[in-house]
Amino acid sequence: MSKIYVTRPIPEPGVGMLRDAGYEVDINSDDRVLSAEELKAKVVGVDAILSLLTDKITGDVLDAAGPNLKIVANYAVGYDNVDLDAAANKNIVVTNTPGVLTEAVAEHSLALIMAVARKIVEADKYVRDGKYKQWEPQLLVGEEMFGKTIGIVGMGRIGSYLAKICAAGLEMKVMYQDMLRNDLMEGEFGIQKVELAELVKNSDVISIHTPLTDETKHLIDTEEFAVMKKGAILINTSRGPVVSEVALIEALKSGKIAGAGIDVFEFEPEISLELMTAPNLVMTPHIASATTKARQSMSEIVAKNIIAVLSGQLPINPVVKK
Ligand code: GLV
Ligand code: GLV
Repeated sequence: MSKIYVTRPIPEPGVGMLRDAGYEVDINSDDRVLSAEELKAKVVGVDAILSLLTDKITGDVLDAAGPNLKIVANYAVGYDNVDLDAAANKNIVVTNTPGVLTEAVAEHSLALIMAVARKIVEADKYVRDGKYKQWEPQLLVGEEMFGKTIGIVGMGRIGSYLAKICAAGLEMKVMYQDMLRNDLMEGEFGIQKVELAELVKNSDVISIHTPLTDETKHLIDTEEFAVMKKGAILINTSRGPVVSEVALIEALKSGKIAGAGIDVFEFEPEISLELMTAPNLVMTPHIASATTKARQSMSEIVAKNIIAVLSGQLPINPVVKK
């Protein structure tokens, strides 16, 4: 009987699907991230690992699993936590969960944009602190998005859906940076492909939707912040290291940009005191894909990929090194 190790309890229906398919499913009973040593001990002899973005799936972990391992199914759209070269060398398939969290992540990005632009978190605190005495003409004045320019870094599924919301819904001008031209989106929503330098210089809002790779690490660094508009807002719901945390803190503290909304952190789950105390920053704890629907669909997709591979079929969502 094929064995599957699930590194942490996930929402149904995935685990049920795997059990119904007749596999032996072992789930980490502690609802926490396993250490590298624990992970290595747990995966010995398994045929499949159902991993989370918080698990580092290194060559060592794959070695520890041994020759039965055929698939690492990552419960995430990002897969920077998996050593793809090591997996490829051992003919182990790696899969992710694209497509089903597109709307969830794009909507969370929009929520962060609005939270920063309209000072929602600050305003909530103001009310709770008992400071609201009467309506005031100058109280907590923010910016509206109508007619502003958003620069979207990465025009994949999530970037495209956010572009659609912004162009069609908020009547914003949309520019984007990507290796590939998106003719469909350009034709339908009049969005414009530009170089990163032009995007950072001309956007009122910059939102990051690129995977983390060697090329995208610190894509937004001191140099990029230096040319941003003074009123710019930076949003990151992709992966923390795409933005230099030191540069972000500096840009916020110096007032170089108006604000930022981030769901991911360069050193997560560590958050430095400087970041904690930076002004005009709204932070959420990596929950952009955390909707009931997205998490259920992710669960279903990881299970489907494992079932496909263990029954000798092609994976549905294989990831390959770009
Ligand atoms: C979430 O961060 C994901 O990659 O699914
Ligand atoms: C993720 O689903 C993306 O392609 O942006």
